Amino acid sequence: MRKLRPFKKVLVIGGGGREHAIIKKLKENPEVEEIFAIPGNGGIAADATCLDIAATDIDKIVEFAYFNVINFAVVAPDDPLVLGCVDALENHGIPCFGPNADAAIIEGSKIFSKDLMKKYGVPTAEYATFTNIDDAIVYVETCKIPIVIKADGLALGKGVIIAETRDEARAAVISMMQDMKFGKSGAQIVIEEFLEGPEVTVLSFTDGKTLVPMISSMDHKRALDGDKGLNTGGMGVIAPNPYYTKEIADECMEKIFLPTMAAMNAEGRTFKGCLYFGLMLTADGPKVIEYNCRFGDPETQVVLPLLETDLLTIMKACRFETLDELEIKFKDECCCCVVMASKGYPEKYDKGFEITFDDGRDNVFIAGAKLEDGKLLTNGGRVLCATRTAPTLEEAIDKAYEAVKTIHFENAYYRTDIGQRALKAGK
Ligand code: AMP
Ligand code: GLY
Repeated sequence: MRKLRPFKKVLVIGGGGREHAIIKKLKENPEVEEIFAIPGNGGIAADATCLDIAATDIDKIVEFAYFNVINFAVVAPDDPLVLGCVDALENHGIPCFGPNADAAIIEGSKIFSKDLMKKYGVPTAEYATFTNIDDAIVYVETCKIPIVIKADGLALGKGVIIAETRDEARAAVISMMQDMKFGKSGAQIVIEEFLEGPEVTVLSFTDGKTLVPMISSMDHKRALDGDKGLNTGGMGVIAPNPYYTKEIADECMEKIFLPTMAAMNAEGRTFKGCLYFGLMLTADGPKVIEYNCRFGDPETQVVLPLLETDLLTIMKACRFETLDELEIKFKDECCCCVVMASKGYPEKYDKGFEITFDDGRDNVFIAGAKLEDGKLLTNGGRVLCATRTAPTLEEAIDKAYEAVKTIHFENAYYRTDIGQRALKAGK
């Protein structure tokens, strides 16, 4: 790799459990002297200097990074990426990990990503796109049911409705296109075929020339045990995903991952950073459910603890297009993360309760907390992620739940079955 100045001062944009996991991993590199987080949170404050700037306030972010001579920035969340945070920082001479806005559109517009997959033959659900509500309503009168209705733009992971009946489908179209439930994000929609099969997340590192998949994982999106209840940002995750065999991984590399990288290049939208593949393993083979232009949350909280290769080195290689020179290794172990949330999440919940730890905070990633008078208080829906690594999945799950028992706050809620489906798959 080309010789670079040491990256002493690193800035991470974002303030959830994902960013905490990234920061803890970046700290392992002795070259890093100081990490800043925008905005970070009360728990991240133990590992980085947190700044009271919104993750979407691009002007203020650039101003801070420029005047504080930041050597490298990691832009983790979707909204600043889609808004062009990387473009703005790079224009001021600050190298970044993350895609520019032209490439972040792969997550920013579902219509873009569906059309990309169609044009380049990447397997995905059949679909139709609509900009006019009357056409969408006519379509749902005759389409196959169940059907999946998706807002085109970003919607905090909530812009997807699986309609089990025609009435639900009609209501979903109206809520998005007429009542604007997801704001401008739902002005255009995708209506797509309902797919079935196990879901797998594969994050990948890419510099636009080389793509290296990370260890696979299985998110648990529903709020309640048994995969019931509302969709959330993710209530827990395990890695690796036992459904994702070597054969399937090879097929995904050939039919999905490399063709997607090449497609973005062909469109003049070279993607550099972490490209997230949300996959469904259907009877017809693996298909893409969604792309994200960033690390997943909570997937990152199990993938990074298993990463052996230095994270900053990989991120630099993505930025400077030298990923082919690296060998990226993962531990041959398993990891489980149980999200402890505020009771009521993802709807209404109370916050401001003190969080205490009997056993310290190693391997705990804090997602929604603030510091007040030296106390750590709950400050969000997803509060923290108890994470443990072990030689087997069973042990990792047991250890993660043991860790949960040592962490206390009023109104804590967590699922009790994280990883159980994966354990059954392995048998
Ligand atoms: P997304 O926010 O795009 O990840 O979608 C949320 C969840 O909806 C996914 O994790 C899937 O479980 C489900 N989903 C999305 N698209 C489809 C589809 N075409 N068929 C079945 N389930 C889907
Ligand atoms: N865990 C799903 C996501 O990050 O979008």
